[in-house]
Amino acid sequence: MTNRKPRVLATRHFPPDVETRLAASFDAVLNPEDRLYDGPALVKASAGCDGIMCAAGDALNAETIAALPASVRIISTFSVGYEHVDVAAATKRNIAVSNTPDVLTDATADITLLCLLGAARRAHEGTTMLRTHNWVGWNPNQLTGVHVTGKRLGILGMGRIGQAVADRARAFRMQIHYSNRSRLPPDLEKGATFHANADDMLPYCDFLSINAPMTPATHKWVNAERIGKLPKGAVVVNTARGGVVDDDALIAALKSGRIASAGLDVFDGEPKIHRGYYDLENAFLLPHMGSATVETRNAMGFKALDNLEAFLLKGQAPPDLVKAS
Ligand code: DGY
Repeated sequence: MTNRKPRVLATRHFPPDVETRLAASFDAVLNPEDRLYDGPALVKASAGCDGIMCAAGDALNAETIAALPASVRIISTFSVGYEHVDVAAATKRNIAVSNTPDVLTDATADITLLCLLGAARRAHEGTTMLRTHNWVGWNPNQLTGVHVTGKRLGILGMGRIGQAVADRARAFRMQIHYSNRSRLPPDLEKGATFHANADDMLPYCDFLSINAPMTPATHKWVNAERIGKLPKGAVVVNTARGGVVDDDALIAALKSGRIASAGLDVFDGEPKIHRGYYDLENAFLLPHMGSATVETRNAMGFKALDNLEAFLLKGQAPPDLVKAS
């Protein structure tokens, strides 16, 4: 019988309170310099570890997972999205995978509304005009944007975050349309219009908000053909995963004015985003800040730790076990 604490690799430098608890519960291998591990470095760093606490963007693909030491029994990601972890490959090796649902719903829904309003009301152009000393005063035609109140908002993906976005949008008297794998019960639908086929929703979207996870089915879902089905002058918002948008198609539509503006918090290949976005005045861009509040990041970390502690200290299934689809 050994009293050794299970060893857990932290792939990133997590918030201080989270690392304090990690180090109290486990023999923690921390990453105070927040070095980014590629697959081979991650395999090397996890030598002798029982668990890995990782984050979005880590290269836990099939190749990395196949090379992990036999000691690794759980991968707990500090994120709700888990497309960076090949769950099927982990399951094959009998490694449990867990994520952090629920705790970032409100923060992400808030940033969705920020993107929606920032895009509609030309916030990027306004702040740039002011900060570059080019504001010469109020003018009746200055920076007129797209009115939000009363417009139709189509939400792709009506899970927890999509529903929280809808709740906020109702305060703007927006008419909610949504598409989801399954229709919500009336108490959650709250009068929103369900579209079984997401393509059929597009003509009703003065605003389109992407709140669906990145899967093979949603990869580059917002493409030229679907953009063509949106009303002219629609606004596109994405706070889910960049890969859901075909960047070339969206950039072309923003340039031509087919799409009035876009509010984007996530990007394919981030942080190396498509260069075309940098020059677009009508793109309101944020650097993946959806969950970036102190409260939310702590809650994500504590949830990731709940999963590690249940599994490695109590011999239980992690409460937020993710299954291969
Ligand atoms: C998540 O949890 O998936 C977020 O994108 C990280 O902020």
